[in-house]
Amino acid sequence: MEALADKLMENAPGDLDRVYFVSGGSEAIEASMKLARQYFIEIGQPQRRHFIARRQSYHGNTLGALSVGGNMARREPFQPILLDAHHIAPCYAYRDRWDDESEAEYGLRVANELETKILELGEDSVMAFLAEPVVGATLGAAPSVPGYFKRIREICDKYGVLLILDEVMCGMGRTGTKFACEQDGIAPDILTCAKGLGGGYQPIGAMVSSKHIYDAISNGSGSFQHGHTYLGHPVACAAALAVQTVIEEEGLIANVRDMGVKLDDALQDRFGNHPHIGDIRGRGLFRGMELVADRTTKAPFSPDVQLHARVKREAMAQGLICYPSGGVIDGKQGDQVLLAPPFIVNESHIEEIVDKLGVALDAALASIDS
Ligand SMILES: Cc1ncc(COP(=O)(O)O)c(C=O)c1O
Repeated sequence: MEALADKLMENAPGDLDRVYFVSGGSEAIEASMKLARQYFIEIGQPQRRHFIARRQSYHGNTLGALSVGGNMARREPFQPILLDAHHIAPCYAYRDRWDDESEAEYGLRVANELETKILELGEDSVMAFLAEPVVGATLGAAPSVPGYFKRIREICDKYGVLLILDEVMCGMGRTGTKFACEQDGIAPDILTCAKGLGGGYQPIGAMVSSKHIYDAISNGSGSFQHGHTYLGHPVACAAALAVQTVIEEEGLIANVRDMGVKLDDALQDRFGNHPHIGDIRGRGLFRGMELVADRTTKAPFSPDVQLHARVKREAMAQGLICYPSGGVIDGKQGDQVLLAPPFIVNESHIEEIVDKLGVALDAALASIDS
């Protein structure tokens, strides 16, 4: 466990210092939410009780994680039993940036929604803001615009609100850097990761805490009031350590960066002028394409045709595993296809992925017309 913690913490951004190993992403988010609450009790601010997160996000399916998440379809049946979390806009430049706005102006405008929400709830009543640095399946590999997270960090610091970054999907090298937030030039107070940590070989997740939070608890009550039977499980940690060692020794994050550029180029070449691809986005080997009925108006396909499900079916028939989903715009409308190929892909794999996706997309679109 310690060897894995040391490896995970190598070059960690900011004040991140302590690791708490759990069994998956949702558990890591639950732990981060409880850590935030306990931290404020320990430092004498028990009145802080609100979480703010973003619409069109996903943080897991356990009740706390689902409450902060903004994936409307996944929340809907459980709405009456969710915690009372608050949501602001995502950073979704493709649809939400105004024509007369630069990317920087747009980023500032949506980041400032956090300040407005904090003031609305009471400036000393918010515990934490949660966000995915690159939004995964709910938005289709959507990174923020430059400057967005710097402004978010400033607002959190101004009001003493903790920043929790959920890197369960986008972290551990997936976007071309070990921590996705490195590319946004900021550090969180708490970070969660899972998926790529164990490379899918063994269930494992982690919550990483900053030193100041750890110290507040360690010098206060002395222990984090949380836990599960399989915390810090030795087999899970050994498997994750083996995965991370291979990633390091084989220079796979550099491969993610190189192949990520090739994948982006190949997607742009193949789909850049496609009449039904509105946006191609992402970082590293984490790329998404948003499907539209009309590129000019950005009108989505009707949710009734379930285009994402058709693409998934046709892609599987081609032997391509990808992650199409619907509801990117508002939980109901809008389709995307998420690609997250293995870190070991080479140029011929990239070619194969893009070819198969092209065939699948054409077949899915033809099936609507027929
Ligand atoms: C960003 C993000 N956070 C949290 C989770 C939840 O992780 P798990 O399914 O391991 O509980 C996921 C899962 O897809 C995710 O993508």
